[in-house]
Order: sequence, then C-alpha cells, then structure tokens
Amino acid sequence: MKNYTSVHDVADVAALVNEALELKKSPLAHKDLGAGKTLGLIFLNPSLRTRLSTQKAALNLGMNVMVMNLDKEGWALETQEGAVMNGTTVEHIKEAAAVMGQYCDILGLRSFPKLQNKEEDYSEDILNKFIKYTGIPILSLESATRHPLQSLADLVTITEHKPAGRRPKVVLTWAPHVKALPQAVPNSFAEWMCAADVDFVITHPEGYELESSFTEGATIEYDQEKALQDADFIYVKNWSSYQEYGKVLSDGEGWMMTNEKLSNTNNAKVMHCLPVRRGLELSDEILDGPNSLVIQEAGNRVFAAQAVLKQLLENSK
Ligand code: CP
Repeated sequence: MKNYTSVHDVADVAALVNEALELKKSPLAHKDLGAGKTLGLIFLNPSLRTRLSTQKAALNLGMNVMVMNLDKEGWALETQEGAVMNGTTVEHIKEAAAVMGQYCDILGLRSFPKLQNKEEDYSEDILNKFIKYTGIPILSLESATRHPLQSLADLVTITEHKPAGRRPKVVLTWAPHVKALPQAVPNSFAEWMCAADVDFVITHPEGYELESSFTEGATIEYDQEKALQDADFIYVKNWSSYQEYGKVLSDGEGWMMTNEKLSNTNNAKVMHCLPVRRGLELSDEILDGPNSLVIQEAGNRVFAAQAVLKQLLENSK
C-alpha cells in the first residue's frame, strides 16, 4: 500500500481487518516499528475521533505525531494552477504540501467537499494535489468523497459482532439532518460493504441515490421497513443529495431510527460514525440501549488506523 485513500488501495481487505483485530489484542506488539518516523496530521475541517484515534494509533507504533489545523493555523492556501496570487491566498499548495513532505514520513489529510460543485468535489483535487506534491505516503482522514479509516473501523466492528456461520445482512439507512452533509461516509461504507462478505442493502428516500460506482453490488430499497427486515446491522447516516448536488430535499420525517423499527430485524446492532444528532438521526433509546455499537465502533478507529499505518510503514522500508 503506497497511499490509503480508498478500499482500492487495499490488496486484501480481510487480511487488513484481521490485522486490526490482532492489533486490538496487542496494541503495543509493534511499538518500535515507527521509531524515528513522523506522522503529520493536517486538518482543513473539524474532527474528534479521527484526530485522536490516529494519533493514538501512531503512538502505539512508536511514531512521532505533529497535528496542524491548517484552515485556522496555516496560511490561506491557493490550489489553482497558474493563479496570480494577488488576492487573499498567501501560499500555494505546491510549496505547502512539498514542505510538509520534508518534515514527515507519512501525511494524513482531512479535506471535506464544499458541496457546491459536484465535478470539483468528485475530482478530489486537494487530496490528489497533496499526493502529487508531498512525495510521501498520504493517509486520507476523510476526503471529499470517501472516509476509508471510518469504513475499515466499521468493517472491523461488523466482523467482531457478526452472527456465527452465515453472512450478515447489513443495511445502510439514510437519516434526517438539518444541514447538508457530504456523501463521503455513505459512499465509502457502501464501497467497503460491496467488497466484504455481507448481504448489503441501502435504503433512502428517492433523490438520495449515491453515485453508482460506490454501490455496485448493493440492493437499493426505497421502503425502509422492507429494507430493515431481518437486518443484523443497521448503519445510520445522513447525506445530502448527489443528483441535486449538495441539497437537502426534505425534512425526512419518519426516517429516524427507533426501537420500534428494530422489532422487524434480527435484533440488529445499530452503528453510526458519529458525531450524531440525538432525536433527529437516532433516538436516545437506541443510543443509550443495548443494540447500539457506536462507542465500540469509535474505539475501533484506533486499530483501523494502526493497521493502515503499520502497512504504510512496512511498505516504505
Ligand atoms: N467519525 C469521524 O470521522 O469523526 P470525527 O469527524 O470527529 O473525526
């Protein structure tokens, strides 16, 4: 693995999940692997879990970590090729990324979409420019279209809790939200579930179809009740429309996950990447009840990041 930006960078998904589970049993088993190596974590957007879990993962491998909230602490970044920088931007991404590459051995980057221009967001311009100009391995901490560290932690969590002796049924369900959110988490989750040994169903109101390349192999079911039938895992997430790009099409009344909806399932475990809006996306009764896996799922972010960092370090030897 040279960079980690999507499931397509992973040679063997099942092996990476097993690696994460082994690291969970012995987090310090490779505590010298990263000695003398530096991980830079660059955030253009806020984070709790990704920031802390990736730092913890790197520390478990003996790495040094530097964190920068580039949007607040850095010079205003220019990304356009050939720009005449006589406006508000102070530093071009070409120099900024190349300089970071001088200080770090691996660079993590979080860069959300602007949700204004589909083509611009889905070209992954910022992520690809960091890959081009740093000259070191890049670890996606969530990009415009994907969140692969979250998806790996999700698959690790499903693997830990799946019923014995059969493929689990996993349902990704859209949930209401007051803001327009990116499609990165559902895109990525769909892409990983399509690569995993699960029966995968996606349910959402009409108009919220994800870009089709992320959902190849999934069953799309617009009737949430039908989709949830016999589910073993329910992954709850809001996203804005891909077709009417970045728009919130309705208030989503009736789509919040509740205990009543669980009655139709195989006592399904409920997942969410967090942060979650209580009483809007997910009911308090689910989040505070025995079916919720959200805290265990967030805990697994450490071992997902550690498995990926371990492979990046081993490959750069
Ligand atoms: N799930 C997730 O990525 O959380 P943060 O945005 O807090 O990092």
